[in-house]
Amino acid sequence: MSYLDVTKDVYKKAAETPDVGLCCTTSPIWQLPGLDMPSIMLEMNYGCGTTVNPRDLVNDPTILYVGVGGGMEVLQFSYFSRKKHGVIGVDIVDEMLDACQKNLTVASETNDWFKEEFVDLRKGTAMSLPIESNSIDVAAQNCLFNIFEKEDLKKALQEIYRVLKPHGRLVLSDPICEQEMPDHLRADDKLRALCLSGSLPLQEYLDMITEVGFGTVEVRAKRPYRILSPNHYDVKENIMIESVEVAAIKDPMPEDGPCIFTGKAAIYYGKEDQFDDKKGHVLLQNQPIAVCDKTAGDLGSLGNDDIHITESTWFYDGGGCC
Ligand SMILES: C[S@@+](CC[C@H](N)C(=O)[O-])C[C@H]1O[C@@H](n2cnc3c(N)ncnc32)[C@H](O)[C@@H]1O
Repeated sequence: MSYLDVTKDVYKKAAETPDVGLCCTTSPIWQLPGLDMPSIMLEMNYGCGTTVNPRDLVNDPTILYVGVGGGMEVLQFSYFSRKKHGVIGVDIVDEMLDACQKNLTVASETNDWFKEEFVDLRKGTAMSLPIESNSIDVAAQNCLFNIFEKEDLKKALQEIYRVLKPHGRLVLSDPICEQEMPDHLRADDKLRALCLSGSLPLQEYLDMITEVGFGTVEVRAKRPYRILSPNHYDVKENIMIESVEVAAIKDPMPEDGPCIFTGKAAIYYGKEDQFDDKKGHVLLQNQPIAVCDKTAGDLGSLGNDDIHITESTWFYDGGGCC
């Protein structure tokens, strides 16, 4: 049985019997006016953060959600799109698609604004999406891609890139791990399926995202996720797993490499009104401006003693220039 089959089996069971706490983390569940979240969807929240952000959802987007789970985020996305087939949900597990459909029916009974036709559920795998090329504005996945081995992860990212329109975006939430994950845990298909041993270090994940072509990347949040401790796992020391929220935008790749925002800011505090690096970045006196890591590096390498570059906060919230 391949690890992908073990994964299907894990989520078949999680579809048939809700496994509260299977994933989930410290991020709050969206509360929105007029949105009544069925308790079954909360019990089947198998994500590790959120991928739903109103600022991604302007201009009547068509949304793809890969790995639907109990449908909580599918419903949240529908809240913003509110049109027939505005959200396409894809999952490989029949039982999960059935559970999601059933939960959406429950949601339609207590949410006047919601119609089941808003969601188009399709069977398919992340590695070969049943979706037309260049047709999606916002693609989301929560706590699925970390399960994939690197070759499959690459295929899944390439698939998302293929189906997105130019300037469309992938929004994701996934575990990451900066420590060396022991090989025997990586090779444990069940742990991998449970989102506990497949995760990569953040930089490696970001490299894979930009290697498929995404020209702009935002690291929006980073949170503690799980500890694999010797008390419960076959490890010599605690292994800390975090979860990240990332948006990857299908912008053209800049000649000097991708713009990756990790929450750095530059502040000019010299004697002039502003500092102009003549490369498109104007820093106004004592006003922080969000910069991507590349620009932060370029500004830092000027060696000016009147420009302060902050560390990455890993909480990038838009704005700034690169
Ligand atoms: C950890 S759960 C996350 C569910 C949901 N995103 C959430 O946040 O609650 C992973 C989901 O991906 C689905 N899945 C597993 N393997 C898949 C694959 N190869 N392609 C698409 N979906 C898959 C599972 O059935 C399950 O719904």
